Amino acid sequence: FNNMLATIGFGAQIVALLLSFNLVDGDLSYSVSEEMRSGSVIGNIAKDLGLEAGKLSDRKVRIDNDGSRKIYVAINLSNGDLIVASRIDREGLCGDKASCVLKEELMLENPLELHRINIRVQDINDNYPRFNKEFIKIEISESAVKGARFPIEEAHDADVGQYSVQTYNLQRNDNFILGVETNSVDLILNKELDREKIKEIDLLLTALDGGSPPKSGTVIIHVTVLDANDNVPVFSQSRWASLTCRTETLTRTDRSAAPFKQTLLLSWFLL
Ligand SMILES: *[C@@H]1O[C@H](CO)[C@@H](O)[C@H](O)[C@H]1NC(C)=O
Repeated sequence: FNNMLATIGFGAQIVALLLSFNLVDGDLSYSVSEEMRSGSVIGNIAKDLGLEAGKLSDRKVRIDNDGSRKIYVAINLSNGDLIVASRIDREGLCGDKASCVLKEELMLENPLELHRINIRVQDINDNYPRFNKEFIKIEISESAVKGARFPIEEAHDADVGQYSVQTYNLQRNDNFILGVETNSVDLILNKELDREKIKEIDLLLTALDGGSPPKSGTVIIHVTVLDANDNVPVFSQSRWASLTCRTETLTRTDRSAAPFKQTLLLSWFLL
């Protein structure tokens, strides 16, 4: 009875050893840039498993696939190269995650072996910074004071790390500078506006990523300067006194816009 237990124990140890061999020692790690053309070599399976390339066919080496997902890599059975089989798009695969690892399983038969293959997909600068809109409209009162901030929607770049948006450039202009912080972009009033001089301002804002050369995206910021009724009315007739009793209409000329233009009806008498 004791012998039997010992045998079972020994068997279990072998099974455990085989399992651990397959699962722990079996991981292979590679790295590949996204968008490599199909046929590009990622690594060599035969070398990394310590197998002769000539044995790969006998061992029926293959990438395991349940048929439901796309296969991105293949094995060249004549030399053991792991190659790109179809387009690997990092953004499509991993979105804006900083790290992107493609997991595949490698099967060998006689004896059966299963290895995990982890392929780190590296970002290339294949996306441009983009603003959500072509135009950004902002209305600013001419009474706005220097230092006033007007938030601008940030640009987005599907690439990660240094290939994401790194800097912004605002077209040179008289009134505004740019305030860029980690998660915000502001137009900052640097010189106060005067609607009587300028009513509308178009500014080109450019977002740049960290590629070399950088890729860029632009948006036009259309600023409308709103009236603050800051001009003192001036009467059109300065010498209106008359010796007769009369009623006269005077137009108040105000250099501010329409809502503040008024007509005064004056009546007076000569006593
Ligand atoms: C497989 O490797 C052989 C030998 O290096 C090469 O001639 C062949 O073009 C490769 N096939 C593919 C699909 O890469």
